[in-house]
Amino acid sequence: MTARPRRSCLYMPGANAKALEKAKTLAADVLLLDLEDSVAPDAKADARDRVAATVKAGGYGKREVVIRVNGVATPWGRDDIRAAAAAGPDGVLAPKVESGAAVAELDNALTEAGLSKDAGLWVMIETPRAILNLAEIAAAARATRLTAFVMGLNDLAKETRARAGRDRAAFHAAMSLAVTAARAEGITVIDGVYNDIADAAGFEAECRQGLEFGFDGKTLIHPSQIDVANSVFAPSAEEVARARAVIAAFALPENAGKGVIKVDGRMTELLHLEEAKRVVAVSEAIEALA
Ligand code: COA
Ligand code: MG
Repeated sequence: MTARPRRSCLYMPGANAKALEKAKTLAADVLLLDLEDSVAPDAKADARDRVAATVKAGGYGKREVVIRVNGVATPWGRDDIRAAAAAGPDGVLAPKVESGAAVAELDNALTEAGLSKDAGLWVMIETPRAILNLAEIAAAARATRLTAFVMGLNDLAKETRARAGRDRAAFHAAMSLAVTAARAEGITVIDGVYNDIADAAGFEAECRQGLEFGFDGKTLIHPSQIDVANSVFAPSAEEVARARAVIAAFALPENAGKGVIKVDGRMTELLHLEEAKRVVAVSEAIEALA
């Protein structure tokens, strides 16, 4: 299981040279360089060239750099895949993926285009059919470089006609199923975007809700959203301290071989030890990014 922090995944339009440059100074764990929804048809080819050249030139430090391509059925998809793979990003994000077969096909196309085996395939979960096929899509991770699910709730709202209010009740089933499917196959799962850039309180509340659902992080649309996502999706100091106490307690000679012990008055089992190790690993991985 990977402890790679993916708390904050910032989209930026591939046509926006200024944003691509600014990203080199931003504290986002992941940069999603977009060729799809945020780029107008007439600007697609220029954006592709700019993003490919930018990724090749590098300068993004420890941030994971992921290129979002257009769908394979669009006039730009195939060229995007070729250019993205050749640029050598950490990952490629594909939109509108709806089946395990589509994941396998994308994975093959990326390999043929020369993408490193170490680079990831990220997929948008944003259509009704994708929700119905979540288990099968996630299972494709066993035989491909599938790395992460990214929720596309703006598209899902459009496709389903669901109207999600502040509590996102209309999406709870889809969100929970996506997290469950991702966990079943050990891949990352990232929550959707919060469109109202000016509403900091609403954004923070939605980050917390995403954390409660089990998401690893949130997709973002503006630099002002980075710090909150980084803080909400990181284990708190108390959580890390508690995790270290659990690890220390199980390591005591008198607890050797035990399946259940008491730590700070709470029943603590081996499953809590596993979770404690994960929390410490994530926290150390976050420290290593700094
Ligand atoms: N990534 C990197 N930098 C960004 C950014 C982003 N997503 N959004 C804004 N910035 C930069 C701006 O370039 C500007 O830089 P400067 O201070 O050097 O001038 C600064 O942050 C402040 O930007 P601001 O004026 O508040 O926003 P804007 O009006 O320029 O842009 C949006 C607003 C919504 C157009 C822009 O935030 C954006 O394009 N977001 C991403 C949209 C996207 O990719 N959607 C696809 C997935 S849903
Ligand atoms: Mg979309």
